[in-house]
Amino acid sequence: MSYFRPEIEAMQGYVPGEQPQVGKFIKLNTNENPYPPSPAVTRAVTATLERGLARYPDPLAAGFCQRAAELYGVDPDSILCGNGSDEILTILTRALVGQGELVRFPYPSYVLYRTLAEIQGARHEEVPFDADWSLPNAFAAPAPGLKLSIVPNPNSPTGTMIPPARLLELAEQSPCPLLVDEAYADFAETNCVSLVAQCDRLMVSRTLSKSYGLAGLRFGFLIAQPQIIEQLRKVKDSYNCDALSIAAATAAIDDTAWLADNRAKIVATRQRLTDGLQRLGFKVIPSQANFVWAQHPQHEPRPMYENLKKNRILIRPMNYPNWGEGLRISVGTDDQIDACLGLLEAMI
Ligand SMILES: Cc1ncc(COP(=O)(O)O)c(C=O)c1O
Repeated sequence: MSYFRPEIEAMQGYVPGEQPQVGKFIKLNTNENPYPPSPAVTRAVTATLERGLARYPDPLAAGFCQRAAELYGVDPDSILCGNGSDEILTILTRALVGQGELVRFPYPSYVLYRTLAEIQGARHEEVPFDADWSLPNAFAAPAPGLKLSIVPNPNSPTGTMIPPARLLELAEQSPCPLLVDEAYADFAETNCVSLVAQCDRLMVSRTLSKSYGLAGLRFGFLIAQPQIIEQLRKVKDSYNCDALSIAAATAAIDDTAWLADNRAKIVATRQRLTDGLQRLGFKVIPSQANFVWAQHPQHEPRPMYENLKKNRILIRPMNYPNWGEGLRISVGTDDQIDACLGLLEAMI
């Protein structure tokens, strides 16, 4: 006899990318930032430790919301903080989607969306991208039980983008809220933040894991109209962000010069990686994120991944049934990317 809800027994569970805790690897498999974060982060963490951790943190991380609101030109009540943007996704799914209801997202995209729907005992619908990486009107069509749509923008694993005006159109046509998951937006040319004020169905999530070099910190946030945030606050854990992460995240977003410098380095190395892979015969989709999707017409992704791993470089082989198999390679430093390209060249 099982103690668990049948939908939990039936699901596989999300499998995160490898995070080896011993040994030294060049990690190009989970879209982390290769550079250390702003030095202001260390100072903020140290100052918080000196004040002590005996007290609970601010339940709403109001200091962070205030600074983020100034930065993004929104009201502080438009911001909900989370333990990574994965927690924002969890809160939204729990709050909006009941058993048997429907979550819609593109295919291929971030596999966690499906897992979150499964935990709710909900259904999911994957709408394939068109050949030019746009989304068809079907993405906004009514469907029984449809409660939440999600578009990662830039998308993972492709790094492609839907123009903000098109996402606004889809949100306005949709019968349900649309979350634009902007985990990688700091590396892109555009984003949807300014559209939140225009459309109460459009929400934007952000993370400090990628562009701020703080994946280990676990901090993300949602920007949505205040009446949406008010409802979502009821669903989150009371103290979902800890005192160290709130202090560090606030210091990180304050250092806008660090972000601009980091973004410029990543964007330049992304081009170096794209050019290098193309020289080796890979088909590479132009990316607006901190990773690229690459497929080689003559070489299977799995042996290339395994060979690199033997040489202590981790990349991510991915297989999306009915779409394709390939390698997702995160943008590291120039040296890391040169090492990766050098090994791939020796294999090809
Ligand atoms: C599209 C997308 N959304 C969200 C996340 C989660 O990021 P976080 O570290 O903030 O939970 C990721 C992480 O890989 C991602 O690829």
